[in-house]
Amino acid sequence: MKLLFINGVNLNMTGIREKGVYGVQSLDDINAEIAAHFKGDTCEFFQSNIEGEICTQIQESMQEGFDGIILNAGAFTHYSYAIRDAIASVNVPVVEVHMSNVHSREEFRHKSVISEVCKGVICGFGKNSYILAGESFKL
Ligand code: DQA
Repeated sequence: MKLLFINGVNLNMTGIREKGVYGVQSLDDINAEIAAHFKGDTCEFFQSNIEGEICTQIQESMQEGFDGIILNAGAFTHYSYAIRDAIASVNVPVVEVHMSNVHSREEFRHKSVISEVCKGVICGFGKNSYILAGESFKL
């Protein structure tokens, strides 16, 4: 199985910012754990703070033969119609992921503009949210 893990804006600060919410591990360390978990599969990792770059990755995932995308769009989740449209443009299924339980946080985090075009949503399990989302493609 070929899986693409995409992290959006500010996720490169994982391990540095709001450690009580997102933990102390860096995104590189988390990605290494994910790759180890899915060792029989092909995993690719992409992070960008730039909305359009995330749209391009989602668009290109179709030609690159990915079976699924695990997407933590960060704050883009709550307002990016561009990412929503990119997801709707491709036939690669996308699972929306959040490390924190966005529903137990500030009200603006309760709204996702991408959930409707995603296969499913997983939030609240820290770094394991990514693993749970990746495993969902094997069910
Ligand atoms: C997040 C939740 C978002 O609300 C926030 O803007 C993030 C990270 C999470 O993983 O819990 O940057 O997507």
